[in-house]
Amino acid sequence: MSSETIKEPYAGHKTIEKNVALLGVLAFGAVIVGGVVEIAPLFWIDNTIEKVAGVRPYTPLEQAGRDIYVREGCYACHSQMIRPFRDEVERYGHYSLAAESMYDHPFQWGSKRTGPDLARVGLKYSDEWHVQHLKNPQSVVPESVMPQYAFLADRDLKGSDPSADLTALSRVGVPYTKTDIEKAAEDLKIQADPMADATDLQKRYPKAQVRDFDGNPDRLTEMDALVAYLQVLGTMVDTTSAAAQEELSKVKGR
Ligand code: HEC
Repeated sequence: MSSETIKEPYAGHKTIEKNVALLGVLAFGAVIVGGVVEIAPLFWIDNTIEKVAGVRPYTPLEQAGRDIYVREGCYACHSQMIRPFRDEVERYGHYSLAAESMYDHPFQWGSKRTGPDLARVGLKYSDEWHVQHLKNPQSVVPESVMPQYAFLADRDLKGSDPSADLTALSRVGVPYTKTDIEKAAEDLKIQADPMADATDLQKRYPKAQVRDFDGNPDRLTEMDALVAYLQVLGTMVDTTSAAAQEELSKVKGR
């Protein structure tokens, strides 16, 4: 078969392919159009994260615990992101949703797992277990390589001014109200005090867990804050009820 008998379907394309300058200009044009279509809409929408029922900003006590988590470098061994793979979901629970870390500054997704993922560790163990484990991990899991954090139970929770912390977070988009900021120092104490009236706190922070977390009701320690933080991780979104499943399938379906 001689080459002349083959019909040329894209005669014009041959011209483009043989002309480097023309190919370059047209390829550049295609990339520009594609880029604008993908990127431009992001400038006109407020948020790229779909809202999910139940997700709320951290209480001042949880936030203080989170600061200790960051200070102690827990992220060096623990991730907080369950990936949407079967082995992950079977081990840790429903995979993490973008909305669940929308108020995390900085986020704690991590990429190093010397220990297990902690994204849904909340309410998996009792407070007593956490306190014992943090004080001496090897007393609960003999082969553990996790360091001991017993000193947290001996340190009063002083740290920075909770109102200032919440103000800073509100500047980067966490929706704390004026009341939340004004009452931050008070809220911090109330959440760890089972004798205090926490109705107002729980109205502003739905489902906030209120109790003495470190087993020492006389003192508000760094252990109280860290355990309060660990116990809220992954618990804000109800991933078990039928209604929640339906809501989540909308997110999944995207
Ligand atoms: C050197 C690495 C390392 C560091 C740093 C570390 N951990 Fe761990 N962690 C582990 C390992 C390994 C395990 C699994 C064995 C065990 O349970 O002790 C673990 C387990 C855990 C568990 C139990 C998780 C589960 O689902 O069973 C929690 C909770 C936890 N760590 C919290 C923390 C916190 C909070 C910090 C920071 C104060 C921290 N870890 C720092 C290595 C580490």
